[in-house]
Amino acid sequence: MKRVFSGIQPTGDLHIGNYLGAMVNYVALGNQLGREAIYCIVDYHAPTNPAAYDKQLLAQRTLEAALVNMAAGLDPDKVILFAQSHVPEHTELAWIFTTQTPYGDLTRMTQFKDKASKLESVPAGLLMYPVLMAADILIYKADTVPVGDDQTQHLEIAREIARRWNLEYGETFPEPQTYLNQDAPRVPGVDGKAKMSKSVGNTIGLLEDEASIWAKIRTMPDDPARIRLSDPGDPGRSVVFKFLSYFAAPELVAVLRQEYARRGVGTLVVKELLMQEMMKKLRPIRQRADALRANPERVLDALEDGARRARAIAKATMEEVREKFGLLPRHTKSKA
Ligand code: TRP
Repeated sequence: MKRVFSGIQPTGDLHIGNYLGAMVNYVALGNQLGREAIYCIVDYHAPTNPAAYDKQLLAQRTLEAALVNMAAGLDPDKVILFAQSHVPEHTELAWIFTTQTPYGDLTRMTQFKDKASKLESVPAGLLMYPVLMAADILIYKADTVPVGDDQTQHLEIAREIARRWNLEYGETFPEPQTYLNQDAPRVPGVDGKAKMSKSVGNTIGLLEDEASIWAKIRTMPDDPARIRLSDPGDPGRSVVFKFLSYFAAPELVAVLRQEYARRGVGTLVVKELLMQEMMKKLRPIRQRADALRANPERVLDALEDGARRARAIAKATMEEVREKFGLLPRHTKSKA
């Protein structure tokens, strides 16, 4: 059986780029038969970035990340959803991998170099980040990892860690493959720039209020060559159409493209339709989020149940790993 695993950063501050690019994937893979899907809020990874970590907010953000993902369609009855720190076997395996991973492999990682260059004091945890990530995946013997292409190098090192282990200690782990959904769009920013990203400030929040979303859509750049309604527009050059294609039915998009190209419809009308179609998708997510926020125990219960199920798998792997690694078995006689 195939097993899907992915890690989710502990932030509830998700935008529609995250949603269309990753979460839709999580939900779809989670629903596919025969694939056990495990999704983990990676709260132990968060403090490796001292600029973003805040002890007052970590718990809240972990809960919020679970809540938003559940609101967006991750159903904890169909997938295992839990917080990384609730399954301590992740860090236990990460330590064993740390002893087996060449330092040079880690200092070469581009994300490490980028992030470290911006810090005055670099936590050793930032260097070990990919090792913990490998442990996250391998402890479940997961073979399919849906992530963005910015994680490619991290997945390579996870495969290397698995390969090295299998050679030295016997076949234990599958080599996990990146699952890049071909249909997952590279969502541009509302400014028409290449990628929607929080650091650029060109996002539409998944739970952003409607007035604020409309203000962003209203000022979205259109085909730059179209100045008056009497000019023909090229939908291929318009970001508005790009967004429309994510949210509206293909038939509606096709009609509007035609009209737009033959000057039959103005940009504002297309934008109003985009707003309408986008809200059809986002409103139910907001409603579910509000309902969960009124009932946070439902999220906490889901995480508790998820951790219990995850731990059963993680424990079995750790037992195998401890033995293969040559550790003294725990003395169990007194328990019998
Ligand atoms: N590094 C991933 C990111 O920044 C998060 C992550 C942590 C992860 N552990 C993982 C992703 C294991 C996939 C599998 O998005």
